Amino acid sequence: MADLVRCETESGLAWVTLNRPEVRNALSFDALAQLGEIVETLQADQGIRVVLLTGEGDKAFSAGADLKERGGFSDDQTTAFVERIGDTFTAVAALPQPTIAVLNGGAFGGGLELALSCDLRVAAEGIQMGLTETSLAIIPAAGGTQRLTALIGPARAKEMIFTARRIDTEEALAIGLVNDVAPADELRARASDLAGAIAKNGPLAVRAAKAAIDLDQGCTPMSDRLARERALYFEGIMPSKDRLEALEAFREKRPPEFQGE
Ligand code: COA
Repeated sequence: MADLVRCETESGLAWVTLNRPEVRNALSFDALAQLGEIVETLQADQGIRVVLLTGEGDKAFSAGADLKERGGFSDDQTTAFVERIGDTFTAVAALPQPTIAVLNGGAFGGGLELALSCDLRVAAEGIQMGLTETSLAIIPAAGGTQRLTALIGPARAKEMIFTARRIDTEEALAIGLVNDVAPADELRARASDLAGAIAKNGPLAVRAAKAAIDLDQGCTPMSDRLARERALYFEGIMPSKDRLEALEAFREKRPPEFQGE
């Protein structure tokens, strides 16, 4: 089968690229299967410090669910697709490494939901994004109603989802939907710099910080979340060699060399 999603790794960074530019990187069943396999491999790879997700071409990050494929689905197939896309994005969100969506072009419907499953988002100047599902008489059910709300708050999320409005990068930056905006020809370099700034830090610490921040904010009481945050420190960070290396490097006035141990 063709590479509907590519993965290239270099210097501790993994670049995952949606590779169906002719249909604006729309997500078909097979593309989601390939994305899922790549995510499964990455989650077990201790050498990967940051995962970057992007789209091939300059037209779209992803136009969301493949609506041509969807047109021929039975109800059972639609059910299976909705489950598949949701499970795949949950696996992306559960990656232990920090993830950055690098929005090279428009992100709509499931495409924006995929970006919302990442920890951070950087966008090329001039692109648009939106949860357009209600305009197709469906809802963003691959995590969009929850992750957009957690990110920008319920009132703004409701306005975006109810109207299916497409917003520009200026607005996305203002409401915290994206972390940074760069000219298109500088986007990859800007994203690499951000990834590099993360990758130079203690990898166990960065992963533990992600796990602590992602503790279920809604249902778990604050006291439990604080206890879990402390446990992440005691269990994963206290015994690490990197923690001692940081102290030694500080004493010796040199940059630390972290091994992820
Ligand atoms: N699923 C399947 N095919 C899609 C698609 C999707 N979600 N989005 C675009 N395509 C296809 C188009 O049908 C077209 O195919 P064709 O050449 O066989 O006609 C091709 O991709 C190019 O699309 P086009 O609209 O001409 O490209 P564009 O660069 O002018 O615009 C978008 C790109 C992404 C802005 C536009 O295609 C769009 O708005 N798509 C729908 C996005 C959406 O609402 N998704 C929600 C899914 S739940």
